[in-house]
Amino acid sequence: MLILGIETSCDETAAAVVEETGNAARPWAIRSSVIASQVPIHREWGGVVPELASRQHIRDICGVVRQSLSDARATWSDLGAIAVTQGPGLVGSLLVGLSFAKSASVAAGLPLIGVHHLAGHIESLVLHNGELPLPAVVLVVSGGHTSLYLVSSPGAYQLLSRTRDDAAGEAYDKVAKLLGLGYPGGPVIDRLARAGDDRAIRLPTTRLTHSDRNAPELKGDLDFSFSGLKTAVLRHVKGRPEGATLSDREIADICASFQRVVVNSLIERSFDAARRYQARSLGIAGGVSANSRLREALKERGDARELPTFVPSLQLSTDNAAMIAAAGLRKFRAGLTSSLAVNADAVLALS
Ligand code: KG4
Ligand code: ZN
Repeated sequence: MLILGIETSCDETAAAVVEETGNAARPWAIRSSVIASQVPIHREWGGVVPELASRQHIRDICGVVRQSLSDARATWSDLGAIAVTQGPGLVGSLLVGLSFAKSASVAAGLPLIGVHHLAGHIESLVLHNGELPLPAVVLVVSGGHTSLYLVSSPGAYQLLSRTRDDAAGEAYDKVAKLLGLGYPGGPVIDRLARAGDDRAIRLPTTRLTHSDRNAPELKGDLDFSFSGLKTAVLRHVKGRPEGATLSDREIADICASFQRVVVNSLIERSFDAARRYQARSLGIAGGVSANSRLREALKERGDARELPTFVPSLQLSTDNAAMIAAAGLRKFRAGLTSSLAVNADAVLALS
């Protein structure tokens, strides 16, 4: 069966066609994946402007879907279902993809499957690597999220912890902005950090020890926090002599030092969770999983602990629709489809 996936939760308009392989260990294959990025539009403003994002999704959605079908050499009648991101994300952006998917499902007579964006990121690991040894601990780390999940059986996602404030990708974007490096910040900090000394600047690591009053079911000590780190970088930059510009060397050192603290905290917490829940594998997905230092550290630590570790391909790390199609197929095979009453939900919970 072929499924069409649609993703418009933030600033990428994406559509993909994914097929079932019939191989239980490697259940899905990508037939096409098209992404229209809005980065050049939002770069001018230093971050995503929601109203501009939804308007651009409207302009792009038809062409992107058409391209995904033609790249897959498929027509509407070859499809078995349509999967679409229902949330979380920017509500105006989500509505474009969801309205398109609902209309297409009626017009083509296809089942509709609303998908949680983070289920998509989690399933990107399976799409790229095949089924993970379960139970698996998965860290989803992106511009909007930094959350640890336990996957005990395929398609069952249990939230273990999350950030109390900024997401890791958001911290990358904010630090890049204050260093004048542009948007998005992750890739440029990743690149500049390579030339820097990662111990040049002392930056704080936040370790939470008590549960969040708003979510007592989460133990709290696996939670993340990045806003203090971002403030420490800001203080470091502002604390320099008035009028002094940052040299390339200083910028590289700040990037490397900041990245070391972020990567350490992501890796520490993920391996702690893997040990606590006796995971048989550990995966990291989401935009920040494209980070070269994070990928190296995950591999090194996994090898040392003899724990299999997984990341998606670079193309599947950042937002895309192939992961939404994959998560949609998972739901479809579990008998879960959505009615036309399904609505966009900016803060949709996953479970
Ligand atoms: O998953 P994604 O495309 O969108 C969200 O769901 O948020 O993630 C985008 C985030 C941005 O914050 C971006 O700066 C970050 O992923 N990112 C990276 C790298 N590439 C993208 N962060 C660190 N290193 C990278 N190489
Ligand atoms: Zn995402």
